Amino acid sequence: MPKVEIVSTENGPNLVMVDGKVFTALCRCGHSQKKPFCDGSHRAAEFRAPKETNKVLD
Ligand code: FES
Repeated sequence: MPKVEIVSTENGPNLVMVDGKVFTALCRCGHSQKKPFCDGSHRAAEFRAPKETNKVLD
């Protein structure tokens, strides 16, 4: 079974990691025009949030 983690990057998106590789980046700032995906708008919005890691599956 693949190892799936969600990594909330500092001041950026939630990265969905599968077996240590980035599968996709999900917006968590609310400013993306391509929701649910991050389009980089968090930079212009000066989004601020800490880094966190949550393991979903082993
Ligand atoms: S986190 Fe990147 S656009 Fe929202």
